[in-house]
Amino acid sequence: MPLISVLSAEVADQIAAGEVVERPASVVKELVENALDGGASTIDITIEEGGHRLIRVSDDGCGMDREDASLALVRHGTSKIRTAADLVGVATYGFRGEALPAIASISQLEIETSPADGAGVSLTVSSGSATATRDAARRRGTTVSVARLFHNVPARRKFLRSARSEWRAITESVVAIALTRPDVRFNLSHDGRPALTLPPVSGLRSRLGGIWGGKYAGALLDVEDVSGPVHVSGLVERPADVGTATRRVFIAVNGRAVRDTGIVRAAEAAYRSTISAGLRPSLFLAVTLPGEAVDVNVHPAKAEVRFRDRWQLERAVESAVRRALGTFDAGAAVGGHHFAFAPSFVGSPVVTAEREQEVLRPGGNGGGALFDDASEPEPSAPSSIATGEIPPLIQFRRTYLAFEHDEGLVLIDQHSAHERILYEQFMTALETGGVPAQRLLLPITLHLGPAEGDALEANREYLERLGFEIEGFGGHTLIVSSVPMPHPRFDAERCLRESLDALTGDRVAGTATHHEHLAATVACKAAIKAGELLSDREMRSLFAALRDTRLPAHDVHGRSTIVQLTWDELDRRFGRR
Ligand SMILES: Nc1ncnc2c1ncn2[C@@H]1O[C@H](COP(=O)(O)OP(=O)(O)O)[C@@H](O)[C@H]1O
Ligand SMILES: [Mg+2]
Repeated sequence: MPLISVLSAEVADQIAAGEVVERPASVVKELVENALDGGASTIDITIEEGGHRLIRVSDDGCGMDREDASLALVRHGTSKIRTAADLVGVATYGFRGEALPAIASISQLEIETSPADGAGVSLTVSSGSATATRDAARRRGTTVSVARLFHNVPARRKFLRSARSEWRAITESVVAIALTRPDVRFNLSHDGRPALTLPPVSGLRSRLGGIWGGKYAGALLDVEDVSGPVHVSGLVERPADVGTATRRVFIAVNGRAVRDTGIVRAAEAAYRSTISAGLRPSLFLAVTLPGEAVDVNVHPAKAEVRFRDRWQLERAVESAVRRALGTFDAGAAVGGHHFAFAPSFVGSPVVTAEREQEVLRPGGNGGGALFDDASEPEPSAPSSIATGEIPPLIQFRRTYLAFEHDEGLVLIDQHSAHERILYEQFMTALETGGVPAQRLLLPITLHLGPAEGDALEANREYLERLGFEIEGFGGHTLIVSSVPMPHPRFDAERCLRESLDALTGDRVAGTATHHEHLAATVACKAAIKAGELLSDREMRSLFAALRDTRLPAHDVHGRSTIVQLTWDELDRRFGRR
């Protein structure tokens, strides 16, 4: 007798079930995807005991006739592809023809289906073998009921978690699918109680509102961008809100909800410098790219996909999200509306090459403008806040600058704003060249401890790009002969000391690169402080430079630089409406 024998279909189905059906939520996913592939516009999902006892998915899709209903239960029985070539760019959720036979092999399954109102059929299958077929009067569509999941696979049953945790996984997978198809009505109930009732709506924001409420959905920022063949759309969390609510991540590729850490990381990279390291934003992103650029046949449950050009894809995602954060009213508001410098400004900071500078002692009040290269735009009529004339500015508490705008009173935090401006200048300097430096009449002498000395050694080259010219290192004493000149009251010695202290040890946190960490550290120490009185000219140049940054609404720690108090809110408080 040979040692090798070919496994029976039943055993093969059970093995497939091991891959496709991990837990009740995977059954729900497969059945709901079948309903969508069948063209359903309403899907009712009934769960009992976290799916341990019953999973029932009912749809109003195309249904099946008697012959197809039995073929559907045969391994590799599928109506969705015919040849291997059809796999390229396959548009249906299913195509492997495995789910129904696999599920049937480990449960008691019943299919009631009809291709037209009235003429239905009902099939009962237990542990993979059909036990009964009868006529059933049914409206067009299909109902699949799965009872006693894993009843014949004790080993798997042991791995099932509590009804509560299986139920949670089920809601997560229904939500993921419901987000890809706002046009379809979904009703989900558990142990007789409705849990989700989602009417068809026009788009993702409304669908999110149906799930988590309009307030949550309304606060998200729109993403909409095309780079080459990649289209990225969706909604992401406003930086100021990150960390305040449950983090939710949802990624779809060509309409299919998938897990993809690369896409998530790319989107998170776009938040760099707007939120504190360690915080992670909520993301709802849908990526669309040509079918042949994606391989969906790499995972039995199709939870992962493979890309022909992952690098291109991730860049597209990062730039789409970055654009959403930079272009929109990503700041904070009191009373609803957020302040936006511009609906679609995507500028990058411009750093001029090193220039001849006046010679003066830092720390003294040189009386110059806050930023030498913050040239004010030519006045143009009619002016927009983004490019036009700078509005009259008032300083409060030597901390906030205020101005009037169409929708409300806008406040800018002078320190945060300056930090954002310097951060972007420093990043450009680190990557492309230097910022304007100031040769000192009286060089500064610094005495460093060993840790600070190490930090200096590690960063010397980069600090020089930021304008610090340093000599005599190696020992404890060094001489600083040039410094950057971000504002007239800049205390270079203190900035350098504090920056070196912050750079000692391995404090690079989260996703920040070395350049980002350095630029953020020095920007924070170099920026004008709260408590400094600014001249009108300084306020104006701060304003002009801030609106020219890529992410004007946030400082490098994720705090808001701009807050708008809307007229609506004021009117309400004064009882005017
Ligand atoms: N709800 C449904 N409505 C219409 N047809 C269905 C439904 N569920 C399953 N089918 C049919 O049964 C076939 C087998 O389903 P399945 O085992 O999930 O494999 P796949 O979805 O990969 O084709 C499908 O190709 C489809 O023709
Ligand atoms: Mg299927």
